Amino acid sequence: MVLESILSTVNPEGETHFAPIGVILPDSHESPEKIGQLKFKLFAGSHTYKNLHTWGEGVVNLTDNLLYFTSRSHRGRSKSILSKKVKPHRLADACKVWEFSVVSFEACYDPATVIVEVLCYDELGSFSGLCRAHGAVLEAAVVVSRYHILPKQAIESKWAGWQEIVDKTGGLREKEAFDMLTDDLVEKGFVL
Ligand SMILES: Cc1cc2nc3c(=O)[nH]c(=O)nc-3n(C[C@H](O)[C@H](O)[C@H](O)COP(=O)(O)O)c2cc1C
Repeated sequence: MVLESILSTVNPEGETHFAPIGVILPDSHESPEKIGQLKFKLFAGSHTYKNLHTWGEGVVNLTDNLLYFTSRSHRGRSKSILSKKVKPHRLADACKVWEFSVVSFEACYDPATVIVEVLCYDELGSFSGLCRAHGAVLEAAVVVSRYHILPKQAIESKWAGWQEIVDKTGGLREKEAFDMLTDDLVEKGFVL
């Protein structure tokens, strides 16, 4: 299973950097505290890729605050707290975190496969329930992060469907997140 997370890494200035990245969990029924290894597929060219390749430590932050998945400026304002075992900080309002160090980084492929060893797991918040709008916002956020390599028409044709789901089932946060993604694409010349 892939969970969409906000990954903390450390940049060359020693500051914590946050970015949305999918974390691949082992296909088992292990509870999260028993998971020993995690995997990522990282495309070359991102700050996260460079940071993790250089420093080899990070934090997987699981959060239902969708605003973190929408804009870099929002992530830049996020509150962080010290981690227990690694240098990159945790997201202050994460529900669950895994702190990790890199075991292997196969940089010869794109995306690179990165295997990490879990150093510490903590649960900080409770499960807030499933909402269809979360899925729609996440799909839209992935598309926005790859808009330059996806066919423009395919993006435009999917947008109305996601908008409808967000309108019907989303709360204020989901609607704000979707509006930010829409504005982002409109600024880039999309007709939505
Ligand atoms: C929900 C979501 C999941 C993503 N998962 C991945 C991923 O697994 N691997 C990856 O390389 N990029 C992924 N991305 C794209 C990165 O977040 C994107 O390239 C981002 O610009 C990297 O930021 P950075 O340059 O600040 O590290 C994902 C984006 C979103 C919105």
